[in-house]
Amino acid sequence: MARHSRFTLALSLLMAWLTQPVLAANTMQYSEQTAERYLHFNWLAKSLLEPVLQKALQDYHPATDTALALDYGCGTGIAIPYLKKAGYRVEGVDIEPNMLAAALTAHMDVPFTRITSGKIPRPENTYDLALASYVIVEIGDRDEIINIFKDIYRTLKPGGVLVVMGSSDERHNPDRQWASKDVDFPENRNRVSGSRVHSRYSKQDLDFYDYFWSTEDYRDFFTQSGFNLLEHQQPLATDDGRGYWKDELTIPATSLFVAQKPY
Ligand SMILES: C[S@@+](CC[C@H](N)C(=O)[O-])C[C@H]1O[C@@H](n2cnc3c(N)ncnc32)[C@H](O)[C@@H]1O
Repeated sequence: MARHSRFTLALSLLMAWLTQPVLAANTMQYSEQTAERYLHFNWLAKSLLEPVLQKALQDYHPATDTALALDYGCGTGIAIPYLKKAGYRVEGVDIEPNMLAAALTAHMDVPFTRITSGKIPRPENTYDLALASYVIVEIGDRDEIINIFKDIYRTLKPGGVLVVMGSSDERHNPDRQWASKDVDFPENRNRVSGSRVHSRYSKQDLDFYDYFWSTEDYRDFFTQSGFNLLEHQQPLATDDGRGYWKDELTIPATSLFVAQKPY
Protein backbone atom coordinates (compact mmCIF):
# COMPACT_ATOMS: atom_id res chain seq x y z
CA MET A 1 0.00 0.00 0.00
CA ALA A 2 1.32 3.48 -0.82
CA ARG A 3 2.74 5.49 2.08
CA HIS A 4 0.08 8.19 1.70
CA SER A 5 -2.87 5.78 1.70
CA ARG A 6 -1.47 3.92 4.73
CA PHE A 7 -1.25 7.24 6.57
CA THR A 8 -4.82 8.12 5.57
CA LEU A 9 -6.05 4.70 6.71
CA ALA A 10 -4.20 5.04 10.03
CA LEU A 11 -5.66 8.50 10.54
CA SER A 12 -9.21 7.47 9.72
CA LEU A 13 -8.96 4.40 11.97
CA LEU A 14 -7.61 6.60 14.76
CA MET A 15 -10.46 9.10 14.30
CA ALA A 16 -13.04 6.29 14.34
CA TRP A 17 -11.46 5.00 17.54
CA LEU A 18 -11.38 8.42 19.24
CA THR A 19 -14.97 9.24 18.33
CA GLN A 20 -16.58 5.92 19.18
CA PRO A 21 -19.15 6.04 21.99
CA VAL A 22 -18.06 5.19 25.53
CA LEU A 23 -19.66 1.87 26.48
CA ALA A 24 -20.79 0.78 29.91
CA ALA A 25 -17.98 -1.24 31.52
CA ASN A 26 -20.14 -4.27 32.25
CA THR A 27 -21.10 -4.83 28.61
CA MET A 28 -17.63 -4.59 27.13
CA GLN A 29 -15.79 -7.23 25.18
CA TYR A 30 -12.04 -7.20 24.61
CA SER A 31 -12.31 -5.23 21.41
CA GLU A 32 -14.56 -2.53 22.82
CA GLN A 33 -12.11 -1.62 25.55
CA THR A 34 -9.15 0.54 24.78
CA ALA A 35 -6.64 -1.16 22.57
CA GLU A 36 -3.96 0.44 24.72
CA ARG A 37 -4.99 -1.54 27.79
CA TYR A 38 -5.33 -4.68 25.68
CA LEU A 39 -1.66 -4.32 24.76
CA HIS A 40 -0.82 -5.20 28.39
CA PHE A 41 -1.71 -8.77 27.41
CA ASN A 42 1.47 -9.06 25.41
CA TRP A 43 3.32 -10.66 28.30
CA LEU A 44 0.53 -13.22 28.86
CA ALA A 45 0.58 -14.08 25.17
CA LYS A 46 4.32 -14.49 25.30
CA SER A 47 4.44 -16.85 28.24
CA LEU A 48 1.34 -18.93 27.39
CA LEU A 49 0.75 -18.74 23.67
CA GLU A 50 4.10 -18.36 22.00
CA PRO A 51 5.39 -21.90 22.64
CA VAL A 52 2.24 -23.67 21.39
CA LEU A 53 1.66 -21.37 18.49
CA GLN A 54 5.27 -21.63 17.40
CA LYS A 55 5.13 -25.41 17.57
CA ALA A 56 1.82 -25.67 15.69
CA LEU A 57 3.11 -23.39 12.93
CA GLN A 58 6.29 -25.40 12.52
CA ASP A 59 4.70 -28.86 12.79
CA TYR A 60 1.79 -28.37 10.47
CA HIS A 61 2.66 -25.80 7.93
CA PRO A 62 6.32 -24.82 7.73
CA ALA A 63 6.48 -21.59 5.78
CA THR A 64 8.06 -21.35 2.35
CA ASP A 65 9.57 -18.10 0.99
CA THR A 66 6.24 -16.92 -0.32
CA ALA A 67 3.90 -18.30 2.32
CA LEU A 68 1.10 -15.92 3.28
CA ALA A 69 -0.83 -16.00 6.55
CA LEU A 70 -4.09 -14.35 7.55
CA ASP A 71 -4.53 -13.14 11.12
CA TYR A 72 -8.34 -13.22 11.32
CA GLY A 73 -9.55 -10.92 14.13
CA CYS A 74 -5.99 -9.69 14.52
CA GLY A 75 -6.84 -7.18 17.25
CA THR A 76 -3.79 -5.14 18.22
CA GLY A 77 -1.56 -7.60 16.34
CA ILE A 78 -0.26 -9.59 19.31
CA ALA A 79 0.21 -12.74 17.20
CA ILE A 80 1.84 -11.05 14.23
CA PRO A 81 5.44 -11.34 15.48
CA TYR A 82 4.91 -15.12 15.96
CA LEU A 83 3.60 -15.55 12.42
CA LYS A 84 6.51 -13.52 11.06
CA LYS A 85 9.00 -15.45 13.16
CA ALA A 86 7.59 -18.67 11.68
CA GLY A 87 8.45 -17.28 8.24
CA TYR A 88 5.09 -15.97 6.99
CA ARG A 89 4.17 -12.77 5.27
CA VAL A 90 1.08 -11.63 7.15
CA GLU A 91 -2.19 -9.82 6.50
CA GLY A 92 -4.60 -8.85 9.28
CA VAL A 93 -8.35 -8.32 9.28
CA ASP A 94 -10.68 -7.22 12.07
CA ILE A 95 -14.09 -5.61 12.50
CA GLU A 96 -12.94 -3.03 15.08
CA PRO A 97 -11.22 0.19 13.98
CA ASN A 98 -9.68 0.85 17.39
CA MET A 99 -7.89 -2.48 17.37
CA LEU A 100 -6.73 -2.02 13.78
CA ALA A 101 -5.36 1.44 14.57
CA ALA A 102 -3.18 -0.02 17.32
CA ALA A 103 -2.11 -2.92 15.10
CA LEU A 104 -1.13 -0.55 12.32
CA THR A 105 0.95 1.59 14.67
CA ALA A 106 2.82 -1.49 15.89
CA HIS A 107 3.27 -3.15 12.47
CA MET A 108 3.57 -0.55 9.72
CA ASP A 109 4.70 -3.18 7.21
CA VAL A 110 1.57 -5.34 7.51
CA PRO A 111 -1.58 -4.73 5.43
CA PHE A 112 -4.62 -4.48 7.72
CA THR A 113 -8.20 -4.34 6.51
CA ARG A 114 -11.39 -3.52 8.34
CA ILE A 115 -14.02 -6.10 7.38
CA THR A 116 -17.54 -7.10 8.21
CA SER A 117 -17.83 -10.43 9.96
CA GLY A 118 -16.93 -13.42 7.80
CA LYS A 119 -16.21 -11.42 4.65
CA ILE A 120 -12.52 -11.69 3.84
CA PRO A 121 -11.80 -9.44 0.86
CA ARG A 122 -9.54 -11.90 -0.95
CA PRO A 123 -10.07 -14.50 -3.69
CA GLU A 124 -10.25 -18.19 -2.92
CA ASN A 125 -6.99 -20.14 -2.43
CA THR A 126 -5.03 -17.08 -1.24
CA TYR A 127 -3.57 -18.08 2.13
CA ASP A 128 -1.27 -20.88 3.28
CA LEU A 129 -2.30 -20.44 6.88
CA ALA A 130 -4.95 -18.64 8.92
CA LEU A 131 -5.01 -17.87 12.61
CA ALA A 132 -8.04 -16.93 14.69
CA SER A 133 -6.77 -16.25 18.19
CA TYR A 134 -9.43 -15.51 20.81
CA VAL A 135 -11.91 -14.32 18.20
CA ILE A 136 -14.59 -17.03 18.41
CA VAL A 137 -14.98 -16.31 22.14
CA GLU A 138 -16.41 -12.92 21.15
CA ILE A 139 -19.14 -14.32 18.91
CA GLY A 140 -22.38 -15.60 20.38
CA ASP A 141 -24.02 -16.91 17.22
CA ARG A 142 -23.22 -20.44 16.02
CA ASP A 143 -24.16 -19.70 12.38
CA GLU A 144 -21.93 -16.61 12.31
CA ILE A 145 -18.96 -18.67 13.55
CA ILE A 146 -19.57 -21.35 10.91
CA ASN A 147 -19.81 -18.64 8.22
CA ILE A 148 -16.47 -17.20 9.34
CA PHE A 149 -14.85 -20.64 9.20
CA LYS A 150 -16.37 -21.21 5.75
CA ASP A 151 -14.91 -17.94 4.47
CA ILE A 152 -11.51 -18.79 5.96
CA TYR A 153 -11.81 -22.19 4.22
CA ARG A 154 -12.60 -20.44 0.93
CA THR A 155 -9.53 -18.19 1.14
CA LEU A 156 -7.12 -20.96 2.25
CA LYS A 157 -5.21 -22.95 -0.35
CA PRO A 158 -5.91 -26.71 -0.45
CA GLY A 159 -3.85 -28.23 2.37
CA GLY A 160 -3.84 -24.85 4.13
CA VAL A 161 -4.11 -24.84 7.88
CA LEU A 162 -6.38 -22.96 10.27
CA VAL A 163 -5.10 -22.48 13.83
CA VAL A 164 -7.76 -21.48 16.34
CA MET A 165 -7.05 -20.47 19.90
CA GLY A 166 -9.74 -20.06 22.49
CA SER A 167 -10.84 -20.81 26.01
CA SER A 168 -10.77 -24.34 27.35
CA ASP A 169 -13.89 -25.87 28.86
CA GLU A 170 -12.41 -25.14 32.32
CA ARG A 171 -11.39 -21.51 31.87
CA HIS A 172 -14.59 -20.06 33.30
CA ASN A 173 -15.23 -22.73 35.91
CA PRO A 174 -15.89 -20.53 38.96
CA ASP A 175 -14.10 -23.03 41.22
CA ARG A 176 -10.78 -22.49 39.44
CA GLN A 177 -8.02 -20.48 41.06
CA TRP A 178 -6.18 -18.80 38.22
CA ALA A 179 -3.27 -16.48 38.93
CA SER A 180 -4.01 -14.17 36.04
CA LYS A 181 -7.80 -13.83 36.34
CA ASP A 182 -10.80 -14.18 38.63
CA VAL A 183 -13.71 -16.26 37.31
CA ASP A 184 -15.82 -16.63 40.45
CA PHE A 185 -18.96 -15.00 39.05
CA PRO A 186 -22.58 -16.27 39.23
CA GLU A 187 -22.99 -16.30 35.42
CA ASN A 188 -20.15 -18.82 35.14
CA ARG A 189 -22.06 -21.45 37.20
CA ASN A 190 -24.27 -22.49 34.29
CA ARG A 191 -22.02 -22.65 31.26
CA VAL A 192 -23.88 -23.80 28.17
CA SER A 193 -23.03 -23.32 24.50
CA GLY A 194 -23.32 -19.66 23.56
CA SER A 195 -23.91 -18.41 27.11
CA ARG A 196 -22.08 -15.37 28.49
CA VAL A 197 -19.09 -15.97 30.73
CA HIS A 198 -17.15 -13.43 32.76
CA SER A 199 -13.54 -13.07 33.78
CA ARG A 200 -11.77 -10.25 35.57
CA TYR A 201 -8.12 -9.32 35.14
CA SER A 202 -7.54 -7.09 38.18
CA LYS A 203 -3.98 -6.15 37.28
CA GLN A 204 -5.09 -4.74 33.95
CA ASP A 205 -8.43 -3.51 35.39
CA LEU A 206 -10.32 -5.34 32.67
CA ASP A 207 -13.56 -7.33 32.73
CA PHE A 208 -14.14 -9.68 29.79
CA TYR A 209 -17.61 -10.92 28.88
CA ASP A 210 -17.11 -13.74 26.40
CA TYR A 211 -19.28 -16.51 25.01
CA PHE A 212 -18.83 -20.08 26.17
CA TRP A 213 -18.16 -22.66 23.45
CA SER A 214 -17.13 -26.16 24.44
CA THR A 215 -14.55 -28.37 22.78
CA GLU A 216 -17.46 -30.25 21.19
CA ASP A 217 -18.81 -26.98 19.77
CA TYR A 218 -15.42 -26.22 18.19
CA ARG A 219 -15.31 -29.70 16.67
CA ASP A 220 -18.75 -29.06 15.19
CA PHE A 221 -17.67 -25.66 13.74
CA PHE A 222 -14.79 -27.37 11.91
CA THR A 223 -16.95 -30.20 10.59
CA GLN A 224 -19.72 -27.86 9.42
CA SER A 225 -17.26 -25.70 7.49
CA GLY A 226 -15.42 -28.55 5.74
CA PHE A 227 -12.18 -28.66 7.77
CA ASN A 228 -10.45 -31.80 9.01
CA LEU A 229 -9.39 -31.40 12.62
CA LEU A 230 -5.73 -32.41 12.91
CA GLU A 231 -5.04 -31.65 16.52
CA HIS A 232 -6.49 -30.31 19.74
CA GLN A 233 -3.93 -29.16 22.28
CA GLN A 234 -4.52 -27.80 25.76
CA PRO A 235 -1.30 -26.16 26.88
CA LEU A 236 -0.36 -25.67 30.51
CA ALA A 237 1.74 -22.89 31.94
CA THR A 238 5.28 -23.86 32.83
CA ASP A 239 6.82 -22.91 36.14
CA ASP A 240 9.44 -20.32 35.35
CA GLY A 241 10.59 -20.04 38.96
CA ARG A 242 8.62 -16.87 39.67
CA GLY A 243 5.92 -18.84 41.50
CA TYR A 244 3.23 -16.83 39.72
CA TRP A 245 0.93 -19.45 38.20
CA LYS A 246 -1.72 -21.35 40.23
CA ASP A 247 -4.22 -23.74 38.53
CA GLU A 248 -2.58 -22.79 35.19
CA LEU A 249 0.17 -25.32 36.01
CA THR A 250 -2.18 -28.32 36.13
CA ILE A 251 -5.45 -27.33 34.42
CA PRO A 252 -5.53 -25.93 30.89
CA ALA A 253 -7.21 -22.56 30.43
CA THR A 254 -6.52 -22.46 26.71
CA SER A 255 -7.49 -24.66 23.77
CA LEU A 256 -5.59 -24.72 20.51
CA PHE A 257 -7.06 -26.40 17.44
CA VAL A 258 -5.25 -27.11 14.19
CA ALA A 259 -7.54 -27.88 11.25
CA GLN A 260 -6.81 -28.39 7.58
CA LYS A 261 -8.57 -27.68 4.31
CA PRO A 262 -8.30 -31.01 2.42
CA TYR A 263 -6.08 -31.19 -0.67
C1 LIG B 1 -9.79 -10.90 22.13
S1 LIG B 1 -9.36 -10.04 20.72
C2 LIG B 1 -8.04 -11.06 20.10
C3 LIG B 1 -7.13 -10.31 19.21
C4 LIG B 1 -5.94 -11.09 18.69
N1 LIG B 1 -6.38 -12.13 17.79
C5 LIG B 1 -5.12 -11.65 19.82
O1 LIG B 1 -4.96 -12.86 19.90
O2 LIG B 1 -4.64 -10.85 20.63
C6 LIG B 1 -10.67 -10.46 19.61
C7 LIG B 1 -10.59 -9.71 18.29
O3 LIG B 1 -11.54 -10.29 17.41
C8 LIG B 1 -12.19 -9.25 16.71
N2 LIG B 1 -13.49 -9.77 16.27
C9 LIG B 1 -14.59 -10.01 17.02
N3 LIG B 1 -15.57 -10.50 16.25
C10 LIG B 1 -15.08 -10.57 14.99
C11 LIG B 1 -15.62 -11.00 13.75
N4 LIG B 1 -16.87 -11.44 13.67
N5 LIG B 1 -14.84 -10.94 12.65
C12 LIG B 1 -13.56 -10.46 12.74
N6 LIG B 1 -12.99 -10.04 13.89
C13 LIG B 1 -13.75 -10.09 15.00
C14 LIG B 1 -12.30 -8.15 17.72
O4 LIG B 1 -12.53 -6.91 17.13
C15 LIG B 1 -10.96 -8.25 18.43
O5 LIG B 1 -9.98 -7.45 17.85
